[in-house]
Parts: sequence; structure tokens; C-alpha cells
Amino acid sequence: MTNFVPTPTVPAPDIVRCAYLELVVTDLAKSREFYVDLLGLHVTEEDEDTIYLRSFEEFIHHNLVLRKGPVAAAAAFAYRVKSPAEVDAAEAYYRELGCRVERRKDGFTKGVGDSVRVEDPLGFPYEFFYDVEHVERLTQRYDLYSAGELVRLDHFNQVTPDVPRGRKYLEDLGFRVSEDIKDSDGVTYAAWMHRKQTVHDTALTGGNGPRLHHIAFSTHEKHNIIQICDKMGALRISDRIERGPGRHGVSNAFYLYILDPDGHRIEIYTQDYYTGDPDNPTVTWDVHDNQRRDWWGNPVVPSWYTEASLVLDLDGNPQPVVEREEKSEMAVTVGADGFSYTRQPEDGPAGEMKGFKVGSQL
Ligand SMILES: [Fe+2]
Repeated sequence: MTNFVPTPTVPAPDIVRCAYLELVVTDLAKSREFYVDLLGLHVTEEDEDTIYLRSFEEFIHHNLVLRKGPVAAAAAFAYRVKSPAEVDAAEAYYRELGCRVERRKDGFTKGVGDSVRVEDPLGFPYEFFYDVEHVERLTQRYDLYSAGELVRLDHFNQVTPDVPRGRKYLEDLGFRVSEDIKDSDGVTYAAWMHRKQTVHDTALTGGNGPRLHHIAFSTHEKHNIIQICDKMGALRISDRIERGPGRHGVSNAFYLYILDPDGHRIEIYTQDYYTGDPDNPTVTWDVHDNQRRDWWGNPVVPSWYTEASLVLDLDGNPQPVVEREEKSEMAVTVGADGFSYTRQPEDGPAGEMKGFKVGSQL
């Protein structure tokens, strides 16, 4: 039985969007090669221990902080809120939840002002800020535009052992669910949750957690993602391509998953859809549907289900990882007890569905 997080009596902070991730990396020079030389993220500022990076269309100081440290992990999932008062709201909200809360008027990173960091009820280090340094938005700096240009931060993806608990907590925090994956018993395996008008700002994936599954940057077009694959092949680092390229069923986005030198997973993502209306319908996928994770039916590699990055508490120590008790999506998909389909059986006899027969001339 899920032990739900209580709903606070004070209002939730008004969150605008996911804004940046702070990642601890063990070899800053190697990480710089990956994020700057390979992926072309733009350096706003850097010193011996830290690199502040932003995407092409960003106007705030950074979307990604790489900080040198002993253990590779995610140190903060940072969200921008609508006004300075909403930072106060975040502090009050998490204090009522009984979470550990730390407020710094000068911010936790360069470029960001008054901020609240919390150890949230799921064990993730969440940050909320409004004040931030504006920098040059590179949108029309085509002289800097690369063939695989990363134009925006799109979303985070978090692994948690109890997705219904996480979903309820994030819905209380003001996130709305655009899509989810369930089985016929009602077990939720994953949920995509948004504040900005896209499919998500963060997603919850069922598994041992709390862990960071990935951070995603978007490109303008599919061909930008293909270029990243070609470039990684040319540089003989194709073994850092974990999954894809492909088309997701969930979100409809074209995607690629790659691994940085510490094994942190980065998704390159494009072409999801608008979700801004208040009655935007939630799309529910059957966990047995082969096309939910890959629209072309390509299998998901097992490492994608099992591997993820540790997250840190506010002292900088890794949070203990709790095992998922419900069956995992990988077990359902590829395990002996599972079955999956491309066409639903009720649509017709094997190999046949409404309006389409396998082998027919289209
Ligand atoms: Fe993603």
C-alpha cells in the first residue's frame, strides 16, 4: 500500500519550468570534452572546479553545472519559479512537509540568486529560484550554430521505486500528467509531468531510487540528432551511444540516449507536442505495447532500465537507493512472465487489425 505524501495546507510554489541540473563529475576535463567539444553546449563561465553551460536559445546563466567531485551524482534538479515570492512559497511548502530545507540568499551556484534547496519526500535534491543572471541568448548567432546544436533544456527524468506516490506528490506541487504507462492491474510504471507547455519538465520512471535517469536537451530537427550519432562514430565513441536514435511512442519525440564519461545519461530530444490547454488529455499506454517506448518497436536495451545516477543529499552525500517492490517494466517487457504486442489482440486475429492486414499492399 502506497504511503502517500500529505498535501500541504499552504499553496505550492508556482513553477515555470525545469531550469538547470547540477551534476558532479569525476574528471572535469573529460566532461568538458563531452559537453563542450562533442555536444557544443555553450560555456557561460568556468573555473578549476566548475563549468556553467547553457543551450543555444537560453537566456539564463546556465542549464547545466558540471562540478568536480569524488562521486558521480546529481546534486540538484533546479526549477525556475514565477516570482521572488514563489521562493518563499517553496520554503514554506517543504517546511510543512517536514523536509530538510536550506535557503541561500546568494544562491547555491554562480549566476543564481535567492534559492531554496530541499531533500524532497522522494529523496531528490530539488531547487527553486527566481533571481538569475541574464546572458546573451544565442538564437541568431548562426555563426556559432553547429549541425547537432542543442537549443533548449527540455526535461529531467527521475527513477523512483513508487511511481504513484511520486505522481501524487508532483501533482500536488502543480505538475500535470501528459502521459503515463500502466498495466491492466493499474500498476503505474512511469509518468510524464509538465509545468511548461510541453510533454514534460520531469518524468518518473519506476525502479530503484532515488536516482537520476537522464537529463534531456532538445534540438530543432531530427537531422541534428543524426549528426550527433555520425559525429560520435567519427570520434570512435559509438560505444557511448546507449539507445536510439528512434521515435518515442510516449511524447512522440525523436530521441537518442548517450552516456557521458561518468555514465550520466543524456537524452537528445525533439518534436514533442503542445500541452498548454487546461484540459489537455492524458495519454495512457499499456506496458505491454511494444510501441510505447519506441514507436518503431525496437527493443529497449536492459541497461536503460537498470542503470542511473546517484543523487546527493544537501550535505553532498549519496542518498541510499531503495529497491522497487512492484514488478519492473523491464521484467514485464522481456521477462518470462511477460508478453507484449504490436497490434492489440482484440483488434482482430493474429497479424490483423482494423483497416490493415499484414502483408497487404498499401
Ligand atoms: Fe526523456
